[in-house]
Amino acid sequence: SQTNLEIVKHGTIHVSDGIIRSIHRVGEDYSESDSLLPPSQLLRMLGYDITEPLTIWEIPENHFLFPGLIDTHIHASQYPNLGLFGKTTLLEWLNKYTYPLESSLTDPVRAKRVYTQCVNRSLQNGTTTAAYYATQSARSTNILTDVLINLGQRGFVGRCAMDSDLQPESYRDESPKAAVHDTKVCVAYCKEADKSGRVRGIITPRFAPSCSRDALRGLGRLLADGEKDGLLCQTHISENKREVALVKGLFPECSSYAEVYDTYNLLTPRTVLAHGVHLTEEEVELIKSKGSGVSHCPTSNMALGSGNMWVRRLLDKGVKVGLGTDVSGGHDVNVLEAARMACFASRSVAEGGKGERSKISVEEALWLATRGGAEVLGLKGKVGGLEVGMVWDAILVGLNGVPFNLCGEGDVNGAPNGIHHGGKGAKIGGKVDIFGWENWEEKVAKWLYSGDDRNIRAVWVGGKLVCRKM
Ligand code: GUN
Ligand code: FE
Repeated sequence: SQTNLEIVKHGTIHVSDGIIRSIHRVGEDYSESDSLLPPSQLLRMLGYDITEPLTIWEIPENHFLFPGLIDTHIHASQYPNLGLFGKTTLLEWLNKYTYPLESSLTDPVRAKRVYTQCVNRSLQNGTTTAAYYATQSARSTNILTDVLINLGQRGFVGRCAMDSDLQPESYRDESPKAAVHDTKVCVAYCKEADKSGRVRGIITPRFAPSCSRDALRGLGRLLADGEKDGLLCQTHISENKREVALVKGLFPECSSYAEVYDTYNLLTPRTVLAHGVHLTEEEVELIKSKGSGVSHCPTSNMALGSGNMWVRRLLDKGVKVGLGTDVSGGHDVNVLEAARMACFASRSVAEGGKGERSKISVEEALWLATRGGAEVLGLKGKVGGLEVGMVWDAILVGLNGVPFNLCGEGDVNGAPNGIHHGGKGAKIGGKVDIFGWENWEEKVAKWLYSGDDRNIRAVWVGGKLVCRKM
């Protein structure tokens, strides 16, 4: 749940056809001695008709299975710019770094190389589902679709609709009609290319300042038409104060940024709004009443100096919230980095006057990175957790071994002398290591705060092994 992480210390998960069929716990469903049986025999004993060939994964010590991470907002096209933002803030950053890079991806060879690297790195960091922005070019966007299909990640692929004359002339849709038409083309391309529905198109008005009223209206109609197919929409909202002021000037007839999207029927339960740092109370109410979700992108908010979002306010209001890396506004493709940044940002918000309750716990950060994201992307009950009936989108996390030791051999689940909880500390060079005393809650906290892609040892999407490092 949002506040509780259930840890199964020893058990068996049976997956077939990509679906979790059973979870059995040692001590509840079978005994410690049963657990020593050959796996096929054990599953038979537990009532399974094992006719299919089995692949057995025995999970080593200090490793654990976890739901795959969900990135609700990432620009695959901006991957080569990771770490490049200088001291710019949003609007300057877009013009100086972002549009030149994105427009260069009309070269299909370059696009394929960039998208392949981005999706690979995202998978290696344990992201099993991602909502991507590609570029304004339909051709380049469809290349991202092909890459996702080939590499096996679950995802949404959005072509940036952007026809406003505020956009550089060399990088924009030539008319509102073209903005809507090319969006349609990319959504249809996904549907045709991936019949399984693992990779889907998503309507993507880049953000209000980059779209004309006619384009927003047309995209709103497209979104309504796609309701039966569960078609989603993603965009940016209230990321930066100057952007908010810009929207006010461009759409004076609307009382707020959120109202602009609502006016064109773009605020729906299938809408993902990135950032939302500066939303007013009224806007939060509106978003809640429309059932839209928010992609919290704290890594990016820190990098571009956009501000710290008060995520507790959204959670308390019952707004759906997930995490986004927002590459390359965010400097890291790792959702775990976004999760810890969410923790840090929340502490800053708390100290800034919103109070202790605003702090996000380890469990909540990991919930945002998994189940929260699944809700935002309309995948609740399907992915984001390890439960019977859910899809096997999962990661194997390892905390020990070379080169990255977060936790020693031997889960003693108790403190060696003097180390744990107020003890005297490690004996350097002595028998006692600085690791090895942690309980599972502590191991998970260490993973969140100091883990990286090296801890991700295997990744499955829809039951298929898509990344393996052991
Ligand atoms: N607003 C409009 N476009 C973008 C983008 O590419 N990144 C971010 N972070 N905000 C945006
Ligand atoms: Fe973004």
